[in-house]
Amino acid sequence: MTRTHPGTFGSSRDVPRDICEALAAYRSRLGMFAADVSWYSEIGSTNDVALLMAERGAPDGTVVGADLQTAGRGRQGRTWSSPAGSGLYVSMILRPPAVIAPLLTIAAGVSVAEGIREATGLSMDLKWPNDVYAGGRKVAGILAESGLSDARLKHVVLGIGINVNQANYPPEVATRATSIERELGRPVDRGLVLASCLSALTVRYRQLQKAPAAVLDAWRSYAASMLKRRVECTVGLQSVTGVAEDIDERGALVVRVGDEIVRVISGEVVWR
Ligand code: BTN
Repeated sequence: MTRTHPGTFGSSRDVPRDICEALAAYRSRLGMFAADVSWYSEIGSTNDVALLMAERGAPDGTVVGADLQTAGRGRQGRTWSSPAGSGLYVSMILRPPAVIAPLLTIAAGVSVAEGIREATGLSMDLKWPNDVYAGGRKVAGILAESGLSDARLKHVVLGIGINVNQANYPPEVATRATSIERELGRPVDRGLVLASCLSALTVRYRQLQKAPAAVLDAWRSYAASMLKRRVECTVGLQSVTGVAEDIDERGALVVRVGDEIVRVISGEVVWR
């Protein structure tokens, strides 16, 4: 269900006033994300809708957001709790050169950390591959999904979920999750957070194509407290425990296991 259109932003459709005003204020910094924004009061998953729109030819930079998701999805097949009035649930359609695709989630993590920090002043951390932390708890997550044709990359949908003022969480994440409002101790403007994250993503997405090493360095600076620490990495039925040394030029986590170096390209990482 889309809502009545209360304002305009580019060729935006049904965008709520607070989001519209913030995006308009940031317009000159939003690059390709300024052109096409759709908003739903209720949706299954913004990623699902964005994937469908991408299949149907929606352009690079299309943004799909919702106030509430009934089937929000997280990494590793988990659900993403998405109640109304609590968070930002947004997906962006990107059509990147295949060579930078493996680093997109790294760039997105950096952008969300930078965006929240710029909008709120909160100190942020990143945990590989792209969990965004504040005060030692997860405040945002990123789900990147690709569309392929004959094994060639056609598009990537970058889904971002940010706990803006969520007060209650599903029991399985309650001790590990937080919201921006909880960390700050005051309400926050979700539109400002979104505009600031999209502005950061505009910069980092461009940089990924010209100077990817700078994006990796930015990621390292946000992940400093989580690198050089013991981790357990689980990929399918296999698990390795070692010290998380770094990320490499493809965004893989480099783990020292005894005398051996293991590259982890996907899976679950628990810091020990
Ligand atoms: C994670 O597990 O950390 C990733 C969470 C990603 C959630 C966002 S909310 C917007 C977009 N739509 C979805 O269904 N998932 C992503």
